[in-house]
Amino acid sequence: MNKANQDLVIAIDGHSSGGKSTYAKAIAKELGITYVDSGAMYRAVTLYAMENNLIRDGHIDEPALVGQLDQIRIKIKFNPEEVRYETWMNGRNIENEIRTVAVSNYVSPVSKIREVREAMVSLQRDMARDRGVVMDGRDIGTVVFPDADIKIYLTAKPEIRAQRRFDELMEKGMEASYDQVHGNIMDRDHQDSTRDISPLKKAEDAIELDNSSMTLEQQMAWFKELLEKKSEEG
Ligand code: DC
Repeated sequence: MNKANQDLVIAIDGHSSGGKSTYAKAIAKELGITYVDSGAMYRAVTLYAMENNLIRDGHIDEPALVGQLDQIRIKIKFNPEEVRYETWMNGRNIENEIRTVAVSNYVSPVSKIREVREAMVSLQRDMARDRGVVMDGRDIGTVVFPDADIKIYLTAKPEIRAQRRFDELMEKGMEASYDQVHGNIMDRDHQDSTRDISPLKKAEDAIELDNSSMTLEQQMAWFKELLEKKSEEG
């Protein structure tokens, strides 16, 4: 790998709530490059559909949503005061709204729509144009950046992932029960892995890491070793 750290494209894929974003953010900070949460983009489209009455009685009006895709402007901006990346849609900060259980319940069916995926993939590639980036999602190493410099496939046991998501929601003061969160995670695992277009799967050249019993510090130590090994390979 003959690239400077700030030019690296790093793909982190895996199931819901496996700690991808925490890990990706820590790597981005370590290397001084941008972090992009690709799931937030699918969540933004889902929120748009919900707010514009395009999801009624659990049914998504796909033709209408596809017809309005070019009206959805999504940006991911770093907020230095909050020291976090935030998702904006059509000039509005939607970072908190896209994390609700209601959005989580509809995001998998919305992200199955071919045209939605095409629009998001194009936006994701634009975000990495001429600069390094750490992006997390489901198809980053397989579809968005098949030539990524480093691909990590992050896994963890479903019960551990559900507990992490539940703790995160409680910390934010959001309403949810553990069973609800666990059910949503199992359901999304299934939908994300079995959909026709760009299902979640490990890229052939991705390195798998099970972080079920690892701290973030241990995961970072593992990453630094991997980076060193890659650099030595040239
Ligand atoms: O990472 P997340 O849980 O916030 O992602 C929300 C949903 O978006 C996830 O259930 C599937 C979809 N998604 C996707 O299809 N492709 C991606 N690259 C990222 C997310």
